Amino acid sequence: MRAGSHILLIISGGIAAFKALDLIRRLRERGATVTPVMTAAAGEFVTPLSVSALAGRQVYQDLFDLTAEAEMGHIELSRAADLIVVAPATANVMAKMAQGICDDLATTLLLATDKRVLIAPSMNVRMWDHAATQRNLAQLKADGVLVVGPTEGDMACGEYGPGRMAEPLEIVTAIDDALSSGPLKGKRIVVTSGPTHEPIDPVRYIANRSSGAQGTALAAALVALGAEVVFVTGPADVPPPAGVAVRKVETAQQMLKATQDALPADAVVCAAAVADWRVANAGTQKMKKMGTALPSLDFAENPDILATVSQMTDGRPALVVGFAAETEHVLDHATAKRARKGCDWIVANDVSPETGIMGGSDNEVTLITGDGPEHWPRMTKDQTARKLAARIAEALA
Ligand code: CTP
Repeated sequence: MRAGSHILLIISGGIAAFKALDLIRRLRERGATVTPVMTAAAGEFVTPLSVSALAGRQVYQDLFDLTAEAEMGHIELSRAADLIVVAPATANVMAKMAQGICDDLATTLLLATDKRVLIAPSMNVRMWDHAATQRNLAQLKADGVLVVGPTEGDMACGEYGPGRMAEPLEIVTAIDDALSSGPLKGKRIVVTSGPTHEPIDPVRYIANRSSGAQGTALAAALVALGAEVVFVTGPADVPPPAGVAVRKVETAQQMLKATQDALPADAVVCAAAVADWRVANAGTQKMKKMGTALPSLDFAENPDILATVSQMTDGRPALVVGFAAETEHVLDHATAKRARKGCDWIVANDVSPETGIMGGSDNEVTLITGDGPEHWPRMTKDQTARKLAARIAEALA
């Protein structure tokens, strides 16, 4: 399992709920983060305290819990997850899922999510065999829900047959399979992100205000779709996402080399805010004040990573995507930039201070492809990233 995978684990009220504790432990041993959600009935079988202690985080139980909602809204809970796992999934929860009923936190999350869902059914054999449950199961499978188990064996109720929840290790394997599949499975994508630092001397540098948020969100979204991502990052404010191969660099020249070293790749996305110039006469020692004389810096042009990759004659990635952060004439400048650099797509945005985009959590972009511009509404950088990742998956399919 990819370290840092984020599982939203919904525990519903069946006797097998006690096995969810072992499942949490196994997942955490493998480096996953588990956010637990319990239905009211689950609380009859395991205590929130044991679940929270094993998960190492808060248990979410109540749809109308104002404190929890203020910390992380219930919609946000599923957004952060790579996969939603329902273990145990009772006949009742399966029935609600199949019908789209949302009358508590767990079922509301299940209806509000666009993430993949894996269920581990657990119930009495007659309930499992009942036509209603089998109908619901068929509907859930048709809806794309993944299913592990149930297995056959002695049941807590004294009967024998199918209905026992799969063992925690089988569920871990099913989670592994689910996480490593996705439309970008087998695709290698290089993402550049963050600012670059161009030294003036050993203690000073020229930088820019890029936080690295959009590149990081994009890399995470690509990983979530199954891509193998090499993340070439300058000194960003936000940490690299989980599940990527990180290449830390400082300067534009280092970023170009790290990007080229990461090739061949199916796609390269240049989200970094690369400094256009470096200081040609950077000092090897700290520059000292020279009386009243001001220092003079000579600049040299930095290599353009996006243009270099776009114009490769041998082994060019099938898709090269750039960003164009502009403050005026956004479409004209971005369209010209796409042509000048030779990339396939440009994601253009207006970063004028009044938009609040630079350093903020939202973005509003226009995707410019060979077919022309396509404006996307304002949304969070995470949502923009997921939409772009989905488009990349379509293009590489
Ligand atoms: N880019 C790059 N290497 C550079 C400069 C830019 O890879 N040396 C990439 C960025 O990652 C981004 C795109 O080119 O994907 C556009 O960057 P931007 O800074 O907007 O464009 P510039 O080339 O600097 O053009 P201008 O200064 O005219 O806006």
